[in-house]
Amino acid sequence: MIPKTSMSLNKCSFKILKNVINSSIPKNANIYQVIIKNELSINTKYSINFFENLNNDNKIHLKFNESIKSELLNKKNFNRKYNSYTKNNLQTSFKIDFPKKLNSYCKILYNQTTITKSLNQIQKSNFTSKTPFNKTSNISNSYYSKNKINDVNQFNSYTNNGNTYPNNFKTFYKRVSSKKNTQNNQKRKFNKSKYQSSKNKSHTSSKKFVTDYFVIPIGGTITIKLLYHYGQKLREENISKCSTIYCEAHHRNKDGRGKNIVIALEEKKNNENTEDKQKEQENKELLKFLFSIIKKDLLLVLFIFAVTLSAAGINVLTPIITGDLINVVQDVLKRQEGFYSIDFAEFTAPTLKLLTLYLTQGILTFVDITLVAKLGENIASRLKLKLFNSYLLQEISFFDKNKYNDIITRLTNDINSFKSTFKQALTQGLKCTTQVVISASYLISISPSLTLTICSTMPIIYFSMNLYGIYLRKLSKKAHMLEDITNFIASEAISNIRTVRSFAAEPTEMKLYQSSLNKTSDANTKLGFHIGIFQGTTNASIGSLVLMILYFGGKQVVQGSMNPGQLMTYMVAMQNTQKSLSHIGVLFGQSIKAFDSLRRVYEYVTDSEGNSSNANIIINEIQDKIEFKNVNFTYPTRPEAKILNNFSLKIPVGKVLAICGTSGSGKSTIGQLIEKFYEIDSGNILVDDISIKDIDSRSLRKNIGYINQEPILFHTTILENIRYGNPNATLEEVKEAARQANASHFVESFPKGYDTIVGDRGVALSGGQKQRIAIARAILKNPSILILDEATSALDSHSERIVQEALNRLMKGRTVIVIAHRLSTIKNADNIIVMKPYDPLDGEKINIIESGTHRSLMRKKGEYYKFYKDLSRKDKKD
Ligand SMILES: Nc1ncnc2c1ncn2[C@@H]1O[C@H](COP(=O)(O)OP(=O)(O)OP(=O)(O)O)[C@@H](O)[C@H]1O
Ligand SMILES: [Mg+2]
Repeated sequence: MIPKTSMSLNKCSFKILKNVINSSIPKNANIYQVIIKNELSINTKYSINFFENLNNDNKIHLKFNESIKSELLNKKNFNRKYNSYTKNNLQTSFKIDFPKKLNSYCKILYNQTTITKSLNQIQKSNFTSKTPFNKTSNISNSYYSKNKINDVNQFNSYTNNGNTYPNNFKTFYKRVSSKKNTQNNQKRKFNKSKYQSSKNKSHTSSKKFVTDYFVIPIGGTITIKLLYHYGQKLREENISKCSTIYCEAHHRNKDGRGKNIVIALEEKKNNENTEDKQKEQENKELLKFLFSIIKKDLLLVLFIFAVTLSAAGINVLTPIITGDLINVVQDVLKRQEGFYSIDFAEFTAPTLKLLTLYLTQGILTFVDITLVAKLGENIASRLKLKLFNSYLLQEISFFDKNKYNDIITRLTNDINSFKSTFKQALTQGLKCTTQVVISASYLISISPSLTLTICSTMPIIYFSMNLYGIYLRKLSKKAHMLEDITNFIASEAISNIRTVRSFAAEPTEMKLYQSSLNKTSDANTKLGFHIGIFQGTTNASIGSLVLMILYFGGKQVVQGSMNPGQLMTYMVAMQNTQKSLSHIGVLFGQSIKAFDSLRRVYEYVTDSEGNSSNANIIINEIQDKIEFKNVNFTYPTRPEAKILNNFSLKIPVGKVLAICGTSGSGKSTIGQLIEKFYEIDSGNILVDDISIKDIDSRSLRKNIGYINQEPILFHTTILENIRYGNPNATLEEVKEAARQANASHFVESFPKGYDTIVGDRGVALSGGQKQRIAIARAILKNPSILILDEATSALDSHSERIVQEALNRLMKGRTVIVIAHRLSTIKNADNIIVMKPYDPLDGEKINIIESGTHRSLMRKKGEYYKFYKDLSRKDKKD
């Protein structure tokens, strides 16, 4: 092993990091993970990933990813520069020292379950850099002063001549490395002999490497991905407000133990323009997407527009006609002719007009609501369908990357929130805007001077109330967050009640809950107090506004420049305008949120659109073999951990291959790759000599039956669950499959037989029963390849025998890959391979340690022999 290298951020960088983090997430959110990515401007694809091994001492070990190495080596541009470096870093692990200071800046926590209990501890942090380190010997001042270099190649041309460090670096170097490293090195335990041997191994290429600097492209944008808990939810925020100044690995210390990598960050300033442009572009695309969703209902939208505009017109007309009615009353009073001499015809005209207006308004409201509901549902259904379809078409890795809750939330909450805001914005927004425009012009036409007087005071009230509103929203957000945390504490304690009990932690939980409850209650009381002030002031100012109108308007009536009807109209119109304005404000805020919801949905929809591949070879039946040829594979969610290395394997048709090996050695992975659930990094998987990449996934999967330890059933009848293997199967065929799967007996013993509902994920069935249903399903599917992944491991020996019998029947005449622990299956397999997890530090770098038939492997007395003996012992015990 090559010595560990420590990595640190300087004080200033931490400050920047802290500022950036603080300005990006809610104040009381708990940071769960901070992932720092440094994007390489020339091509982000060439990046080196680290993975971390947690230490309890706030230190993180990082290793370079080898797959990136091979990719880099394949690229002409990088060939020379990375060659020696990548060869070495494959075996190099780095260590980042998180200074204790980080503790006070942000709380990095171990995992979801401990968040509330360890607010002040750093238990785990993840510091990932996605950067191709560039190997060079010096950084010149000229380079540093230019500081605009984004490109590694460009950077190299600067770095090879100069001999001095940048000034800041010198100072920093003294401050950080001299003090800290001596401390760190004292602490560090180091296996010297291991180090020596690896040092010798890679001597020629690593000599330079040892004294060189690693440089993260300077000026490159740092993207900080924050995972944080805000209430119960784990949220994610990507921020790119920093850029790297430098990142260096300096000399190994005298004792040869490790080196220090230093990263310095700078707050990004000059990229705002490009960011704005990008946002603009994104918004355009989002609007296009929205239009594509609404397009089919364009006529309906236009109709709703017309209805809404008419309703708004009527709303404006109503106070005018009311004013007319008041004027009639006043005329009659003026004439002082007595009640009996009143000509009711004078009243009738405005009254009828008003009645017509009210009736029309009622009808329009009815039509409006019905049509908007229809439109909203159409849009939501279309969005949901699009999103659901996109989920079903997503790569399997998508489900590894995204949390189940997020996926479902987008399908439900996000779309529903968009729907309701869209409906409101379409009707209320349009109505209010029209009303404001018409009413304002009407107000001016009635009395310009009064409108001017009101207008000069209204903005003051409006803005001060808005400011107060912002403060209120902040308070309410805080109260909500505290409430979320309180609920989370309760739900966590209750759902983990067994753990709480067994650790006698009830008093701790109670205390924790109470303290959180107190905080929530304080926050809510404070909120109530301020809402009281807000409401009181709002009522008083609205009252004052009315009084102002009455006072100034009354004066004008007395002076004769306005009649009482107009004053009445004026008052009502003013109130309407004011209401509409505040409504528009609320709607605006909601629309921004709704747009964000739509953006999230759009993200997932477009994600899957990139998945359409041109793999179009249809295979009906696999006739020859499946072959793995030098396959390299890493899971997309964990690119730093290689699973298969140069893996080769042939599985001839009709033969049984047994795979055994330790847990985590990649046995199930092989099954998943045959199903084309993941793309391989390099090499090839051939089915009948056709690359799996070119085969249509659906046609491939039709040929494969996969039965694993925990078969998943759907929440429907046994009949439908078995029929899932072949939707066209008749009842008789289903029954026959059940018979072959040894399932008919227990199914028929249920009162409802094949119509028995199996419960969510099959909870109403035992493990062995579920497995037999799954086997029946596979029998109906009639696949040419069968993958049995630990299919009977969860069963007792009686159920196992019954299931095994069924499996043996199913296996006949098919190519079988059995990930095994059943002696009889392994023994009779045509070929057996024994796997072990791939370890880059292990000299052999292989996955398969042994292969052959049972006999030959037993004779060899190697790993398989041990494994077989272990299993026989276990079998006997059972
Ligand atoms: N979806 C995934 N994303 C990331 N890593 C994964 C994923 N699935 C498996 N792994 C990792 O890949 C490695 C191999 O896993 P795999 O499931 O193939 O092992 P296995 O040999 O079947 O083990 P077991 O005998 O315990 O079932 C493990 O280290 C595992 O952590
Ligand atoms: Mg497995």
